[in-house]
Amino acid sequence: MYTHLQQRDSERPSVTLNTLAQMKQRGEKIACLTAYDATFAALLDAAGVDVVLVGDSLGMVIQGHDTTVPVNMDHMVYHGAAVARGLHRPFLIVDLPFMSYPSRELALANAVRLMQEGGARMVKLESGKAQTEIVEFLASHDIAVCAHLGLRPQSVHKTGGFRVQGREDEAARRMLEDALALEAAGADLVLLECIPAALGRAISQAVKVPVIGIGAGPDTDGQILVLYDILDLTAGRKPRFVRNFISGSDSPQAAVARYVQAVKTGEYPAPEHCF
Ligand code: KIV
Repeated sequence: MYTHLQQRDSERPSVTLNTLAQMKQRGEKIACLTAYDATFAALLDAAGVDVVLVGDSLGMVIQGHDTTVPVNMDHMVYHGAAVARGLHRPFLIVDLPFMSYPSRELALANAVRLMQEGGARMVKLESGKAQTEIVEFLASHDIAVCAHLGLRPQSVHKTGGFRVQGREDEAARRMLEDALALEAAGADLVLLECIPAALGRAISQAVKVPVIGIGAGPDTDGQILVLYDILDLTAGRKPRFVRNFISGSDSPQAAVARYVQAVKTGEYPAPEHCF
């Protein structure tokens, strides 16, 4: 009972939205990683990760699909609940999967499931201007929302593949406008995937909420990578922004701790990881 009150005196209080906002204000980088099970969740917690995302990337790294499109709500709830059981300090975000938020009502019902059954403190949805109404509806029900812009893997069949987004001036201007519109609609966090570093910086400076980047340059308020990529568990060619942290580390936990340290000091991402 009242664990929130007990945690006020704890040495490792849970990360909240307030913690993340204060980190942005202080200029302290936010270290985030994906996880899909309780064992890795506990390891990430022990290594000092601030935010854990149960990403629908599990469709690729866990289920072996080519895209995230086959992932459904039952999968996200199952993995969310497993990760939640392994976490104490980090803030837990769970993805709304493909076509789970086509209307305000469905988005709300599915976000509630991710929170009640999947342990999420925040839900993430791939967004643009078209999703502002949905973000506004979720926010009006006090659901914390992360808006994911840039490369949106759920849309790859429509947008033509996994490509850097926002390279042209017009596309960059639109993405900045979308980020501002989503923040105004109530998004509490913005995630930027695979965009030029200059655009990552511009959006991070323009919005007040914390911005987490993956392949979005060094100037976002935090960084996220897919856990299996930094541990070099995924086969084949990796995206440019991935850095292998297992090489030179004694254990997976030491590799994750090195990642956290590299994010906090700004050593990661380096120019070779940026667009
Ligand atoms: O699904 C996922 O893991 C993500 C990250 C790549 C940011 O959205």
